[in-house]
Amino acid sequence: MERAGVILAAGIGKRMKSATPKVMHAVAGSPILGHVIGAMREAGVSRIVVVRSQNAESVRDYAAARGAESVVQDRQLGTGHAAGCASSALADFAGLLVINNGDMPLVTAKTLSAAFDAAEQTGLAIVAFRPADAAAYGRVLLGEDGYLDRIVEHKDASDAVRSVGLCNAGTVIADAQKFFGWAAKLENVNRQDEYYLTDVPKIARREGVRCAVVEADPIEVMGINNRAELANAEAEMQKRLRARSLELGVGMLAPDTVFLSSDTVLEPDVQIGPFVVFGPGVTVRSGAEIRAFSHLEGCTIERGAIVGPYARLRPGASIGEDAHIGNFVEVKNSQVEKGAKANHLTYLGDAHVGAGANIGAGTITCNYDGFDKHRTNIGAGAFIGSNAALVAPVSVEDGAFVGAGSVVTRTVAKDALAVTRAEQKEVPGWADKFRTRKKAGKAKRG
Ligand code: UD1
Ligand code: CA
Repeated sequence: MERAGVILAAGIGKRMKSATPKVMHAVAGSPILGHVIGAMREAGVSRIVVVRSQNAESVRDYAAARGAESVVQDRQLGTGHAAGCASSALADFAGLLVINNGDMPLVTAKTLSAAFDAAEQTGLAIVAFRPADAAAYGRVLLGEDGYLDRIVEHKDASDAVRSVGLCNAGTVIADAQKFFGWAAKLENVNRQDEYYLTDVPKIARREGVRCAVVEADPIEVMGINNRAELANAEAEMQKRLRARSLELGVGMLAPDTVFLSSDTVLEPDVQIGPFVVFGPGVTVRSGAEIRAFSHLEGCTIERGAIVGPYARLRPGASIGEDAHIGNFVEVKNSQVEKGAKANHLTYLGDAHVGAGANIGAGTITCNYDGFDKHRTNIGAGAFIGSNAALVAPVSVEDGAFVGAGSVVTRTVAKDALAVTRAEQKEVPGWADKFRTRKKAGKAKRG
């Protein structure tokens, strides 16, 4: 049966105290929403509708970029009402529908699949969990037959109900059109005057549909409501990503100090030193080494390359096979070809560095004139002396030399030498005379 998904993301997320919609806060480099979309896709969900608030354009744009539709819930009348907002977008959909809170970045495809399987049997399923602290979660009451009796929201619960440890995760699965029929019958007679998604099973039961309860790992379904929970989710996601990399054959000296993004691609036999941060969009090929304290985003590192310690690779950096990028070197939007080296204190921006070129310490590509960015081309086998400033647009052709300390503003021809520094002047014996004069002066003063 085909599968569709609705992600509830119209809540204001007041407790985050942020101008950014809650589901757009990042966990491991991608929005919370992205993780929920990812888990749904992996569980075979083909169509996804995100329910957002009117002014959350970032949610709309992100959903669209991930191939999901979005619909607006103009007033936050509750989770049941929010789910109902997706009904017209899915009017033509026949199949199973998963409705999931948008603030659940750790949910896995495995759990969603288990809930889909359960719903295929009974026609309706929810996901429940037993947290250490049931806090303000809705409580799940089971009937004697093991199916759901009802869900009671914390605010509506008696002390007796609050003592129940089984909680509602915020995932419901049902036949799509039946679900929308039930959602349309919801009432808002409760402490919060809201239309609760959690009342749907009650309505379904009137039609003889029982609701299965699938239990999940509490960590997976924890909802993000504030910054502390966001930080916990981040820590948990990092654990997962590190474990996955180690499993794949990535070497890490101190895994707990390495920060990964959900899209980080590390091949087997990549070696990672302590305190390395991978922002979004990084690929590191087999046999490359990333040394301590490096920060990487949006870049590719080929086999055998060595990066760091203390290197910074920014978007568009592509480091070729066996190339070296050393300490305090920043590379942005630049290709460094095979075997090229920039080992110390350098900025390469909007540059192309040919194979085997050597970039001396302190070299700067001056790529920005305050208005536009310009490119620097450094040919294969070129040698750039220390502390050179290459004022872009400019080319240093294959095999050319640039003398240390030069400011290069024009093309340096193949195999030529460019030196722009003042010529060295030498005064024989000057230092000795200087010292004698100074010593005499000091002696006279006492
Ligand atoms: C909800 C559940 C609760 C469960 C908990 C799990 C209901 C009534 N309660 O409570 O049983 O234990 O999740 O985390 O469903 N949203 C909308 N529009 C609205 C209201 C909410 O889109 O009008 C979205 C929010 O953006 C959020 C999700 O629905 O992603 C859940 O809303 P939230 O207010 O966090 O629900 P809880 O009170 O946590
Ligand atoms: Ca919540």
